[in-house]
Amino acid sequence: MSVDGGLPRRTVCVTGAGGFIGSWLVKTLLLKGYNVRGTIRDPEDRKNWHLKELEGAAERLKLYKADVMDYESLCLVFSGCEGVFHVASPVTNDPEKVRVAVEGTKNAVNAAANADVRRLVFTSSIGAVHMNPNRSLDTVLNEECWSDLDYCKKTNNWYCCAKMVAEIVAVDMAKKRGLDLVVVVPPLTVGPMLQPNLNVSVFRVLTYMRGTKKAYPNAVMGLVDVRDVAQSHLLVYENPAASGRYFCIGTVVHRKEFVGMLSEMFPEYPITTKCEDEINPMVKSYKFSNQKLKDLGLEYTPIKKSLYETVKSLQEKGHLPPAHMLPMPPRIPASL
Ligand SMILES: NC(=O)c1ccc[n+]([C@@H]2O[C@H](COP(=O)([O-])OP(=O)(O)OC[C@H]3O[C@@H](n4cnc5c(N)ncnc54)[C@H](OP(=O)(O)O)[C@@H]3O)[C@@H](O)[C@H]2O)c1
Repeated sequence: MSVDGGLPRRTVCVTGAGGFIGSWLVKTLLLKGYNVRGTIRDPEDRKNWHLKELEGAAERLKLYKADVMDYESLCLVFSGCEGVFHVASPVTNDPEKVRVAVEGTKNAVNAAANADVRRLVFTSSIGAVHMNPNRSLDTVLNEECWSDLDYCKKTNNWYCCAKMVAEIVAVDMAKKRGLDLVVVVPPLTVGPMLQPNLNVSVFRVLTYMRGTKKAYPNAVMGLVDVRDVAQSHLLVYENPAASGRYFCIGTVVHRKEFVGMLSEMFPEYPITTKCEDEINPMVKSYKFSNQKLKDLGLEYTPIKKSLYETVKSLQEKGHLPPAHMLPMPPRIPASL
């Protein structure tokens, strides 16, 4: 088969194809004309069936059953691929899952090296970057910055530990195996879901929309649109000169601003206006650089648009009922 100019179609693999970011990456690659192999753990599970509906999927998407802990299953899928996008990882703060994130990444790097792929793109996280209490507020967070592993452990931030160790291991092993590895580093990722089930980052938005979150923390957060994350994976894959880490951060806002944007766009929902911390001054935003991806051509989606479409997607997929159908908040007696 051939695409424009008679060039053969290129085959790439996405691990964790059925997840939030994985699904958008599969969609982006299919639209770009790639043959895509997607790994999923359970082909029978309806939660992955949306992949079959993507444009080009019938002709160019093949789904494979593979667990990142099963090295042989990865070897089989990666064999014959020009590139691999290692997206799959447990997204949880469960300390038991650190091993899965790290060993799974080792398996992916080894299997990709054995298959002689041209490039492996690894999805890291801002959790591997921003957890460092000793960094001054004036520091511009960029691709040189790392979290403090001991601090992550002391504060029970097991997800950050997992992503940090997995990234370090991936870089080390790729170097040893002579494999070209490029890393994308997103913060909390929002935007419309392609998959039917909730993932952790979109669930965070839902907790505010439903009013289950009664107060917001005095903290700042990095945010990015899922379509920008998918696009950045493609950009770093396709650009021959790409190397190292790429921050994929759309913006950094205080939670107050985050809930403010949601309330302004969806005033009918019971979004909290209360901060958990009523004593200290509001935490200041940190400075960051997302220039490296801009230089590759990435244009970041305005975060208000992403949040609007996140909520619309939550409504369309039945996770968020219309505001008037939400359970009423408990009435506060007039005497209080
Ligand atoms: N969303 C964010 O805010 C965000 C931010 C920064 C980085 N990331 C990173 O982006 C990646 C995708 O995250 P996401 O938000 O798209 O989460 P997600 O929707 O939960 O996707 C995670 C994917 O990993 C797969 N997976 C988990 N354990 C696996 C295993 N043992 N073997 C094979 N596959 C396994 C899951 O498959 P099952 O469906 O079978 O469980 C799922 O497809 C992760 O590496 C995450 O750390 C996410």
